[in-house]
Amino acid sequence: MKAIEIRNKYLNFFKNHGHTIIPSAPLIPENDPSVLFTTAGMQPLVPYLLGQKHPSGTRLTDFQKCVRTNDIDEVGDNCHLTYFEMLGNWSLGDYFREESIAMSYEFLTKELGIPKEKLSVSCFKGDDDCPRDEISYEAWKKAGIPDERIYFFGKSENWWIAGEEGPCGPDTEMFYDTGKEKCSPECNPSCNCGKYVEIWNNVFMEFYKDKNGYSKLKQKNVDTGLGLERMAMLLQGKETPYETELFSPVMEKLKNIETIDNIQSRRIVAEHLRSSIMIINDGGTPSNVDRGYILRRLIRRMTRHLNKLGIDLNSLPKLIETSIDSIKELYPELENKKENIINVIIEEKDKFIKTLKNGEKEFEKIANKMKTSGKKELDTDIVFNLYETYGFPPEVTEELAKEQELIVDMTDFQKLFKEHQDKSRLGSEQKFKGGLASTGDTEIKYHTATHLLNAALKVVLGDHVHQKGSNITAERMRFDFSHGAKMTDEEKQKVEDLVNKWISQKLDVTIQEMPKEEAIKSGAECMFIEKYPDIVTVYSIGNVSKELCGGPHVQNTGELGHFKIKKEEASSAGVRRIKAILE
Ligand code: SER
Repeated sequence: MKAIEIRNKYLNFFKNHGHTIIPSAPLIPENDPSVLFTTAGMQPLVPYLLGQKHPSGTRLTDFQKCVRTNDIDEVGDNCHLTYFEMLGNWSLGDYFREESIAMSYEFLTKELGIPKEKLSVSCFKGDDDCPRDEISYEAWKKAGIPDERIYFFGKSENWWIAGEEGPCGPDTEMFYDTGKEKCSPECNPSCNCGKYVEIWNNVFMEFYKDKNGYSKLKQKNVDTGLGLERMAMLLQGKETPYETELFSPVMEKLKNIETIDNIQSRRIVAEHLRSSIMIINDGGTPSNVDRGYILRRLIRRMTRHLNKLGIDLNSLPKLIETSIDSIKELYPELENKKENIINVIIEEKDKFIKTLKNGEKEFEKIANKMKTSGKKELDTDIVFNLYETYGFPPEVTEELAKEQELIVDMTDFQKLFKEHQDKSRLGSEQKFKGGLASTGDTEIKYHTATHLLNAALKVVLGDHVHQKGSNITAERMRFDFSHGAKMTDEEKQKVEDLVNKWISQKLDVTIQEMPKEEAIKSGAECMFIEKYPDIVTVYSIGNVSKELCGGPHVQNTGELGHFKIKKEEASSAGVRRIKAILE
């Protein structure tokens, strides 16, 4: 069964069971600086899981585009993907365990035709926070799963939460038995030897976890997720998603044009190509920070592996087209964006090639120095510096070193590399707490400019203007705000002039700490009041702007340069988006 058929069957099945089909949220979450990408179907639904009324009712279903970035380095094996599609159905205080399990079982066995002998399930075994899930156990038995294929595990397997804090609960998971031999007598669905493949996760979300522990939510929800690529792979009797129609045309093309056979590199190219396409499709652009950096890494890694396969990089546009063609039945909007997607990827690839060339030059300098000094072993720090400063892949350094008869200790490099990775992971977690994507000089300027723009929009359009989101890269700023109509050219000009006037007045940017209530009373602007602690920092710019904000900002508006609006467009209902630059 093709992926598109699985998706259609899923949505129709749940529609017939009273669910409203809602659209996939964008991969890049609107107004949520706390995560890089949408990672699960439940993510855009959090307010509704917490009790807000959803306009489409209490039973929802959708397909959700997801990117998970923690496993990028695993891609190339037979299962990890960074981009994937999650099919999901939700009960927002409507049905609970029994009905959810009955529907899942019916869908798997009747709609997808999976023999019930192939199914095993697991339930939560209970602990101090939540009792053993007897209701799910009974529901599975009633459906027809025998005792010996119902397993009980603890929180590590059968509890689901996105991150550290949020709605959560025990889950029941469904597994497909591939028919492989058990790897040991104890082999069970929690084992990842490949015999059992997890296909669906139904979370019974009735708890909320924060730093004080668990509390009960207002309502009992169900949140389920079924990975489309994995299901397509199993139903097509394939060993990996790369053999399904979603990847196989690219995989075959690569095989035809490669001069060096390397299945891992083929998979990395096919996967990173598809993920990049989907991220660009939802507005992502490569940059040096956060989301943009993930995209940059994906494109760079893909380019490196094309090199590794000995493939001429001029074939890239065709490969992108092939990849788009293999998934455009799922995402028809890609057809219109093809040209833009190709341009973004090619441009980034070209930048990377340039970086590589610079790195090579630097390497030559180092090698020559070493030769004159008679040194034979390349310092790990040098390899690392080439990697960090020039984005120069260590395996290329290793190769060049070999050519020059120099020695590199890659184990030492790997150690340093791991430390660096852990640090940057930590760094990006920290950063997201503050909400601003980056703290480079240019980004800081843009950040201050968003405050000026917010204030200018209020003057020109009215007090109904509030910030709805912002996104900053080293190249530009994007600012979303509440306003019901397209801005006229005159309005845009006035806003631009006002911001530039404030820049030319060289206004001081000052910072104050005060209780949240006091800040609000004093009229300070703020986007997510509930996200702020009791004592907040307030940034004021002259007397034209006052906002609750974590910073950082420039000290004086004179540092900003000239502000220019590049585009004003609709973002969503009642929300407009401005893209602007400082020049
Ligand atoms: N949120 C759960 C998951 O991601 C179920 O959709 O697995």
